Amino acid sequence: MEPIAEQIKRLTDEINRHNYNYYMLDNPTISDYEFDQLLNQLILLEKQYPDYVLPDSPTQRVGGSVTKQFKTVKHVFPMLSLGNTYSEEELQDFDRRVHELVNGNVEYVCELKYDGLAISLVYEKGLLVRAVTRGDGVQGDDVTNNVKTIRTIPLKLQGDFPDLFEARGEIIMNHENFERLNKEREEIGENPFANPRNAASGTLKLQDSAEVARRGLDFKLYFVMGHQPYADNHFDSLTKLKDWGFRAPDVMVKAQSIREVIDFMHDWDTRRKTLPFDIDGIVIKVNDFALQQQIGATAKSPRWAIAYKFKAERVPSRLLSVDFQVGRTGIVTPVANLTPVPLCGTIVKRATLHNKDIIDYYDIHENDVLYVEKGGEIIPKIVGVDVEKRELDVPKVKFVTHCPECGAELVQNEGESGVFCPNDLHCPPQIKGKLEHFISRKAMNIDSLGEGKVEMLFDNDLVKNPADFYTLSYDKLIGLEKKLSSTDGKTERVISFREKTVENILKGIEQSKTVGFERVLFAIGIRYVGENTAKKLARFFKNVDALSNATKEELMQVDDVGERVATSIIDFFLQPENLEMIIALRNAGVQFELRAEETVSLSDKLSGKSIVVSGVFSIPRDEMKQLIEKHGGKNVSSISKNTDFVLAGEKMGPEKRNKAQKLEIPIISEEEFYEMIK
Ligand code: IVH
Repeated sequence: MEPIAEQIKRLTDEINRHNYNYYMLDNPTISDYEFDQLLNQLILLEKQYPDYVLPDSPTQRVGGSVTKQFKTVKHVFPMLSLGNTYSEEELQDFDRRVHELVNGNVEYVCELKYDGLAISLVYEKGLLVRAVTRGDGVQGDDVTNNVKTIRTIPLKLQGDFPDLFEARGEIIMNHENFERLNKEREEIGENPFANPRNAASGTLKLQDSAEVARRGLDFKLYFVMGHQPYADNHFDSLTKLKDWGFRAPDVMVKAQSIREVIDFMHDWDTRRKTLPFDIDGIVIKVNDFALQQQIGATAKSPRWAIAYKFKAERVPSRLLSVDFQVGRTGIVTPVANLTPVPLCGTIVKRATLHNKDIIDYYDIHENDVLYVEKGGEIIPKIVGVDVEKRELDVPKVKFVTHCPECGAELVQNEGESGVFCPNDLHCPPQIKGKLEHFISRKAMNIDSLGEGKVEMLFDNDLVKNPADFYTLSYDKLIGLEKKLSSTDGKTERVISFREKTVENILKGIEQSKTVGFERVLFAIGIRYVGENTAKKLARFFKNVDALSNATKEELMQVDDVGERVATSIIDFFLQPENLEMIIALRNAGVQFELRAEETVSLSDKLSGKSIVVSGVFSIPRDEMKQLIEKHGGKNVSSISKNTDFVLAGEKMGPEKRNKAQKLEIPIISEEEFYEMIK
């Protein structure tokens, strides 16, 4: 009998070989049935002998691991983006700039610009060790477990690969998987994704890697960062990766002149409609690495590469009527009903008119012929009017004065283009918006409840404000029904909550009681209080009582809190409904004060001191602020007579310095500060 470890190794290698034949070479040599048999054998063995699971095990492709919170990881090389061009002239300008920096001929490589999200894959000794999203370019989320489910990403390389290198590319979802996913979502009452890019990005950030595997993402390679050189140019570097087990780019063409680049661009502007995935343009790169070096980069993007973005297709269509939709934040959006027209492969009947100012800007009249364009969103947009086709004596389109959902008078703030319904506490779509925000990942993170389920709870009068989630019980939820009509409106289906769903929902709600005060404060939806401001307010005031009693001046002491935010916080706590909600949430066990471990204290040397931090330090500014808090101090944003001292780094602004001197507030250097807290 073969020893277990060897058996596992043999199965792993064999399945990996079949995966490679299937996904990379499009040339399977066994049937799906035989393949599943092998995989099941391996799954069984790995379950029995988890110690022998190999790092390149194909079972990782089916997922199963759950990531609660993605780790933030710094990129070894920053992930730059590309400059965009929209016309032939701009491409010529790019070519001219390149030739100003290099003498002689320049060879370009033309590629497709995949419309997804960038990923960095780090390989050490031939194994995929880390997959990180672009994030802000400097650091991103570690999504390795999810990425391992993508079958066109090799887990283990073959051939003469270097010990350490980084492959970069785009994670995308193809049209087939996108449409299947959206259909499923609509069936269970979840909102569909607006486009494959959003679907890919939402999927990659899922906590459950088995679900990621099920949805089916794909990877398109476009760049390698070597720690040692192993090719002289971009084209060869990607070709080399093919030998190591990657799928070669679908399209990668050398061009000897900008003319050839432009021909490539025109060619793909037509052919893109036949691709099974979205591209939003093409990318042009100088091929030779030495020339790339010579040409250089700005802080944001390389000068040796550029993107050309395709123009969206636009068609004329006659306006039939205008609907006014109230969004989750109360903003009212006018939507045009149009004579159906074909556009980018679908029939368009509706398009957004954005906001009130745009209707005025285009001076849209009833029955006008409008130009429609399909952008990144599911709903196409209106981008112009054919004034010549305007009929005589037709009135202008009038914007509603009252909310079509709740009847409240609409408001337009000075300097803002949107009109909104101010009745945020009682207007149905706004209540739903608040509930959806409350359960969202960065707030209470109740992922057993999605938008569709929240809507069901709301429609059944079970939840009208966030505190109501905590009054739900098994009996109230079991068997709850929602009727779904098919898109043609002819058939109706009913979905209902079953035991497992109900148990999950209740478990999720129960778990949310451990969510810290910082996130609770973000979750309750105070206008203008985002994730970061909530964090700062929580750390400053420590509990909700202190926060709700704070004066405007006290609130404005907090870093980043200006007049607008302070006023909004005060208004929030003046509403009896909000106070009732907080009491009910608190009684249910939701956290309304920082827990001891969230206020890790190193000393009380700065206790009671209000400190303004300004300038650049040897550690990131946020870390400096945390240090102040850990020693009992408070970070305040602006210098006033109540400030105890200003902690000044390099490049402190002259205005702050003058103000501190005028008010005779001591200015302390980084070294002096460390002395203080030593
Ligand atoms: S090269 C330093 N090539 O477009 C070079 N990017 O706006 C970095 N993208 O963040 C990028 N297809 O996510 C490159 N063939 C391609 C691409 C591509 C899509 C994305 C990528 C990047 C963004 C730049």
